[in-house]
Amino acid sequence: MKVMVISGGGREHAIIWSLSKSALVDKIYCAPGNGGIAQLAECVNIGVLDFKAQVEFAKKENIDMVVVAPDDPLANGAVDYFEENGIRAFGPNKAAAVIEGSKVFAKDLMKKYNIPTAAYEVFDNSANAIAYIKEQNSYPVVVKAEGLALGKGVIIANDFSEAESAVHEIMDDKVFGEAGGRIVIEEFLTGPEISVLAFTDGNVVKPMVSAQDHKRAFDNDEGLNTGGMGTFSPSRIYTKELEEECMNNIFLPTIKAMNAEGRRFKGVLYFGLMSTKDGVKVIEYNCRFGDPETQVVLPRLKTDLARIFSAVIDEKLSEVEIEWEDNAAVCVVLASGGYPKSYQKGYAIDGIEKAEENGAVVFHAGTKLEDGKYLTNGGRVLGVTAVGDNLDDAIKKAYGYVDYISFKDMHFRHDIGIKKQ
Ligand code: AMP
Ligand code: GLY
Repeated sequence: MKVMVISGGGREHAIIWSLSKSALVDKIYCAPGNGGIAQLAECVNIGVLDFKAQVEFAKKENIDMVVVAPDDPLANGAVDYFEENGIRAFGPNKAAAVIEGSKVFAKDLMKKYNIPTAAYEVFDNSANAIAYIKEQNSYPVVVKAEGLALGKGVIIANDFSEAESAVHEIMDDKVFGEAGGRIVIEEFLTGPEISVLAFTDGNVVKPMVSAQDHKRAFDNDEGLNTGGMGTFSPSRIYTKELEEECMNNIFLPTIKAMNAEGRRFKGVLYFGLMSTKDGVKVIEYNCRFGDPETQVVLPRLKTDLARIFSAVIDEKLSEVEIEWEDNAAVCVVLASGGYPKSYQKGYAIDGIEKAEENGAVVFHAGTKLEDGKYLTNGGRVLGVTAVGDNLDDAIKKAYGYVDYISFKDMHFRHDIGIKKQ
């Protein structure tokens, strides 16, 4: 098979790394890719939302399967467009991707089908939203823009004035553009968060091994929220009992609900879960692999990923037995100084090869290759990943690998994997 993967971050590098080991895959393309991906795939300079150019390229190169990785093209109908042009594509169609594209849709779905989630109300004007917040008078309160907002559309407001500003910024100042047409005001829940990504073809759902993300910029969960500073798999708190509870109360009901709504979901469904004192609840759905969760989940996969993708497209996932290693993985993100605020790009990166020679799997998130040398090219630069017999072993190895790597103003967290819950 010739496969093309859309986008070019750490998640896509991990998907391509896994596909590159498949017996079914002869050649991989990536649009647009990055410096590290270029080692495994031919990178083509086509934008993530340029569906027309992607289809033309896929036809010209006789590509057998396209993997659409990020939320934006999925929510905008990339998979529908490939299919209309006779090209097999992995990922949900536009009707199903709405589960991430609209938080109002997701919340209403959960309410209608009794899937546990935080209590909420939806508003389409700021005055009513603010009146409601005042009347509830319970803080913190969670304010969410309806649409895709680069992971920034969720604000946890600690008092009335923070909540009021959040509503004004989203609805009146439109800081997230059209994503802020409607808002969800939601009950604040507490408890540890777990990410479970699952393959589904709309008939069966096969969860991957669990993972946890560290979202804050600095050690001990201090600093601003980021796209993710590191991940580990498995989660220490995701017991067999929790897994069963999630399967019965969340995973299967969600797949059934999407079918009942005439929105069969095919692809990877990401369940952002919180284990609360009242049971596990859904914090969010994503219609795709998580980043950087993928970087710790796929290195533990034993089964051929291309085979799983094909089975999902053909709605024959029940025929594939998906196997996982009984081990652990840790990914430490090396970020540019200043991230998640402004940062410089273009610094030389040293030591990647040395780390790899010693056993690291280094996923590139934001790098470019210039004259044979890797340069920083984003806020999150590398995801240094280690696989070990257990979490402690993987943590030790990951930080050992990090020691080989350096670039100007590099920063990373020193506590990835050690949160106990
Ligand atoms: P999201 O952008 O949807 O991933 O949300 C970002 C983060 O906000 C989540 O990972 C949670 O930590 C937090 N969050 C979202 N909704 C709630 C809620 N109802 N209660 C507490 N925290 C929440
Ligand atoms: N790691 C969170 C996400 O991919 O949305």
